Amino acid sequence: MKIGILTSGGDCPGLNAVIRGAVLRGVISHEAEFVGFRWGWRGVVQGDIVPLPRQEVRGLSRQGGTILHSSRTNPFEGEGGGPENIQRMLDENGIDAIIAIGGEGTLTAARRLVDEGGINVVGVPKTIDNDLAATDYSFGFDTAVEIATEAIDRLRTTADSHGRCMVVEVMGRHVGWIALHSGMAGGAHAILIPEQPMSIDEICHYVESVRDRGRAPVIVVAEGFKLTDMEAEHSHKGLDAFNRPRLGGIAELLAPMIEARTGIESRDTVLGHIQRGGAPSAYDRVLATRLGMAAVDAVKDQAWGEMVTLRGTDIARVSIREATGNLNTVPQSRYDEARVLFG
Ligand code: F6P
Repeated sequence: MKIGILTSGGDCPGLNAVIRGAVLRGVISHEAEFVGFRWGWRGVVQGDIVPLPRQEVRGLSRQGGTILHSSRTNPFEGEGGGPENIQRMLDENGIDAIIAIGGEGTLTAARRLVDEGGINVVGVPKTIDNDLAATDYSFGFDTAVEIATEAIDRLRTTADSHGRCMVVEVMGRHVGWIALHSGMAGGAHAILIPEQPMSIDEICHYVESVRDRGRAPVIVVAEGFKLTDMEAEHSHKGLDAFNRPRLGGIAELLAPMIEARTGIESRDTVLGHIQRGGAPSAYDRVLATRLGMAAVDAVKDQAWGEMVTLRGTDIARVSIREATGNLNTVPQSRYDEARVLFG
């Protein structure tokens, strides 16, 4: 059995631990052979393949990033794309199955390759934002929350020194899990997430009540948050110099608005890709390793179109279809719980 592994979409601490878990499980338990596709689906489409022997994965679980590299290439687009060409490339290289490690886009493509092309693919969920449905948590999220929490702790001491308001922007394009968890862990005075638009007046109400108690306000905001009363020119940030939609920038917008309305000197900090870099936490290493091992077992069972997933503390399998098409958003009850502590 020869298995090809790919990592696709935005990177995430724990990707290398999945690769190591898969290779070790496959080599030790199933006499499998492994190759890696470089640069995500691009490596599949272009036949950019490297051997992944056991010695290649030594010590990999503690290493950030992905040794296979990643891209946002769609396997249905561009020259060489599409199920027929991909199957031909797999046959030419004697590859029996693909383990695709990725988020919503990657898994949607994986499902289509199974459904439309009969290609042997098993999925592993990957999202730092924790926004994938059908898995309780995804690796990378815990690491990102740790990094964001440490940043909030550090920003608090400088905020206190100067009596300033700090607005900290964390990742989360569509959902606010990183903001919710890091904000709770760091004792933020308000947590602003995409699922819960809020007015600038309400935010300033929290800021002023913190100031009135003689404290320096700390606000955590997810990059996809929108003000209910956001003016049109601020609601869409347009395209960057490479014609890509601009992401984030909400903290930069909020800090001066808060200062203008409350008179409290305010600063913004955007954590950005720091949240995706460096070594995974111990929790993420364990979760990623278990998912990698389970993915190889799924290949052995020919569970094509299925994804390995975390259910409670167990690793289970679900149809990739269940994991795609709708996001894992922050439930109202979790936000209400956090909101008790605002202000
Ligand atoms: O989806 C993961 C994520 O990290 C988002 O939180 C963020 O908006 C986006 O990727 C950044 O993408 P890129 O690495 O392409 O700038």
